[in-house]
Parts: sequence; structure tokens; C-alpha cells
Amino acid sequence: MKILIAYTSKHGTTAECATVLADRLTGGNEIDLIDMKCQMPISAEYYDVVILGSSVRMGHISKKVKRYIKDNMEALAEKQTAVFLCCGFPDEFEEYVNTQFPKKFNPSLGYHCFGGELKPEKVKGIEKLMVRAIRKSITEHDFEDATYTGSLPEIIPEHIYLLSDKIMGR
Ligand SMILES: Cc1cc2nc3c(=O)[nH]c(=O)nc-3n(C[C@H](O)[C@H](O)[C@H](O)COP(=O)(O)O)c2cc1C
Repeated sequence: MKILIAYTSKHGTTAECATVLADRLTGGNEIDLIDMKCQMPISAEYYDVVILGSSVRMGHISKKVKRYIKDNMEALAEKQTAVFLCCGFPDEFEEYVNTQFPKKFNPSLGYHCFGGELKPEKVKGIEKLMVRAIRKSITEHDFEDATYTGSLPEIIPEHIYLLSDKIMGR
């Protein structure tokens, strides 16, 4: 199969997840792993499978991923397609799916949350302060909700493996 994995990543988490996914799909497949910050992928019509990945920032996914979906809407409807998101608040995943993607876009392999990271050492300037503040709000949250764990986000490898299995029809 010819597989496109196209992603945008500001601080490397989405790129790391895209690479892990690509590594699991090698062997019999031709994979184009494309960082959309550097180049936009060719039309979806040239692929059997199209996987799009984005991080979430300020409640929004990448404009480049949005544009690729808009420009390739018809071709994507004919392909095996999936979207994965990396985010600091995985509990908000459904909200991101509902607000960030066109209603008529229904990826056949679904939407997937690969978790995320909030690591101040990966971030510069004002964003470092933001990441520190978000981490503090998570870990020091004064909660009455007994189910609240206060744990920081992490990449969820099992979700990457689930998607790779789905792509391979396992
Ligand atoms: C400035 C900034 C804003 C962020 N905004 C959100 C957000 O609105 N929702 C969310 O779930 N995560 C948010 N995050 C967390 C990122 O989605 C998370 O760190 C992710 O792993 C980043 O992926 P990347 O390294 O590929 O850019 C934000 C992170 C930063 C640094």
C-alpha cells in the first residue's frame, strides 16, 4: 500500500508519534512521512491510506491540516483515512474533533488521540511559562471530583499501535 503520514508539530511530540506509526507500517508498504511545516503533501488521490496528525494549541489544530482536508475532501472520502491528535488535555479530545473538523469529513479509520506532552524543557519563551502554568494547574488542581487524577499527559503508545493494526487490517 502507498501510505501518506502528514503532520504538523510545534515541539516534536506529534512528529515523534508520526515516526512511531510509520515505523510500525514499514514492510511491504511505501510510506511518505511528511512534515507539513516543510512541505505540503501531494494530492490524497495518489495514496491508498492517508493519515493526518496535528497537535492542539489554544483549542485549535493546525491550519495546514485543515487546508489539506479542505483541498482533498473528495479524494479523502475514497481512501482509508485517519486523523490523530496530540494534546495536553486528552479529556477534551471529543471537543476538538467536534469543533475543528468539517462535519462532512468522516475519516474511515476514525479520529485517534495519541496523548501529548507538557515539557517546559522542549518549549521556549512565553510558551515555557504557559506550559509551566498548565502543568501547575493540572497537578495542583484543588478538586472535589474524586475521579480527577491530576496526572500530566503522556504519549499513549497503545493508541498508536491500535491505529497501525487498523491500517494493516488486523
Ligand atoms: C502554547 C501551547 C498551547 C497549548 N494549547 C493546548 C490546548 O488548547 N489544548 C490541549 O489539549 N493542549 C494544548 N497544548 C498542549 C499541546 O497540545 C501538547 O504539548 C502537545 O504534545 C504538543 O505537540 P507538539 O510537540 O507536536 O507541538 C498547548 C501547548 C502549548 C505549548
